[in-house]
Amino acid sequence: MNKKLEDAFNDQLNAELHSAYLYLSIAAYFDSINLKGFANWMKAQVQEELLHSMKLYNYIINRGGKVKLSPIGEVGREWESPLNAFEATYEHECYITGRINDLMNLAREENDNASVIFLEWFINEQVEEEATTDEKLQELKMIGDSTPGLFMIDREMGQRVFTPPTTQSE
Ligand code: FEO
Repeated sequence: MNKKLEDAFNDQLNAELHSAYLYLSIAAYFDSINLKGFANWMKAQVQEELLHSMKLYNYIINRGGKVKLSPIGEVGREWESPLNAFEATYEHECYITGRINDLMNLAREENDNASVIFLEWFINEQVEEEATTDEKLQELKMIGDSTPGLFMIDREMGQRVFTPPTTQSE
């Protein structure tokens, strides 16, 4: 993998770690307002982001590149409402999708077929990431100011369990 791609993959590794950091902060917000189900859902999302980070880490190593860990940027600490927190989450996923698309375009420009194939997983993953966060956003929009509705979603979100992949390379 050439230097340009190595740097771009390292930037994406940083962006995925930043996503984990952001979602952990959102989980803490939910814990602070006693929405334990929402907090559980966000903590599972943190695990997802760490998984994405490790996929990139392993790929850089496997391609003979150097992993360069940079400082992780600041994240917000307060959100106006659960709806507002999910608006931020969905927006963030759309931003990550844009980054993955740019990375794919770079891999194509550099004629790096292995990177193109590797990134296909992330392209598909982002479809799912946008869909699941948008689903929660729409549910929150639907219930409006209903407290029973909020507790119903909270209970449902408390069921989410992160399932780790079975092989280390994933
Ligand atoms: Fe790693 Fe949620 O995208």
